[in-house]
Amino acid sequence: MDSDKSKFLNKLLSSFEENTFVKLTFGKKRRKSQELKNIYARLVKIKDREKLSFTYRYATNDEVKNYEIPEAKTLIEKYLGIDFMRAHLFTTTIDAELSINKKGKEFLRTSAPTLKRSVVQEHDHKKTRFVNSKALYLHRLEITDKEGKVKPKKQDKFKQINKYIELLDSLLNFYKEGDHLKIVDMGSGKGYLTFALYDYLNNSKGFSAEVLGIEQRNELVEFCNKLATDCKFENVKFKHGSINDTKLKNADVLIALHACDTATDDAIAKGIKSGANVIVCAPCCHAQIRVQMSETKVDIPQLKFGILMERQAEIITDTIRALMMEQYGYDSRIFEFISSEHTGKNLMIAGIKTRKEIDTETIQKKINGLKEQYGIKQHYLEKLLISS
Ligand SMILES: C[S@@+](CC[C@H](N)C(=O)[O-])C[C@H]1O[C@@H](n2cnc3c(N)ncnc32)[C@H](O)[C@@H]1O
Repeated sequence: MDSDKSKFLNKLLSSFEENTFVKLTFGKKRRKSQELKNIYARLVKIKDREKLSFTYRYATNDEVKNYEIPEAKTLIEKYLGIDFMRAHLFTTTIDAELSINKKGKEFLRTSAPTLKRSVVQEHDHKKTRFVNSKALYLHRLEITDKEGKVKPKKQDKFKQINKYIELLDSLLNFYKEGDHLKIVDMGSGKGYLTFALYDYLNNSKGFSAEVLGIEQRNELVEFCNKLATDCKFENVKFKHGSINDTKLKNADVLIALHACDTATDDAIAKGIKSGANVIVCAPCCHAQIRVQMSETKVDIPQLKFGILMERQAEIITDTIRALMMEQYGYDSRIFEFISSEHTGKNLMIAGIKTRKEIDTETIQKKINGLKEQYGIKQHYLEKLLISS
């Protein structure tokens, strides 16, 4: 008789054959010390061939690898029961969950499908992946021409938008089709990323996402609201105001991309205080900490060189941001948003709210250690959170 693991693998293979596969996730890592926390797999199309794209989630970064189906099957078989004790298969006809206990006993449970659509992402590097280049907003934002072709000078911007959607897709992967999400985008600017996210979540993923952009430049707010109406994007709105003055209630996802200097901290603090599930920011400039580092004459050789001082200030600023997010119960990650050949502003800090117990004292010691070492009196985010 087939074991539950074999039955699970058969269901997986049938879902590829019958074109019903949606996604596969691995959880419940076997060893506590294991650095790999979970794996998320989805189908992608690369040069017209379907592959399984695995996102390997480590404590501080994600790694993506694509495999042919037979190779992926061998890997899945290997992970089950060795690295992970639970796997969840989502198809459009059935959900299947395989759990393996400490004694190696396998349990297969099936239920009605929670996701009804199979999403195969175009993954050809020469082409669009997550973003539909024919979308009206891209044309109006002058990224594409009338035929929906990306303009030669806008290739980098288009790549950045695609990469952003790819990252957000992975960060929001615990939401299901049909889920209602309230997203606030602080410092939304001309709305490139705001529109792309709204379009992707609602029109490709089948979420019911409501997006609010906050922007201090009124002409951009007016431009974006008009564009939202023209695109018939009913649930994306833009509001004139500053990040700091925004009253945030019940936001599920807080985004702040390239908001200048401490505006990123204002946004993170808003997200933490409102209990957002996900906080995503791409820091812009890092003046606040750099000024303090330059004023205090700490004896660190590299700080004598302007460019290294600047980079160190960025690293310290963002490390403290990530640590503070952890203090407030977020699992934080820092990764490259897009290769630095396309833009200098290429880091992304993300925090996902967890329920795990937080050792705030140890984290505080790490923050204090960094501050002491670099002669920093106070990180602006500390000031914002102390007053909460
Ligand atoms: C560099 S643009 C980035 C726009 C968009 N988020 C993106 O990444 O494409 C930064 C935007 O944030 C806005 N901004 C900066 N500080 C802000 C604040 N404190 N409150 C509201 N908007 C702010 C600026 O006006 C600008 O439009």
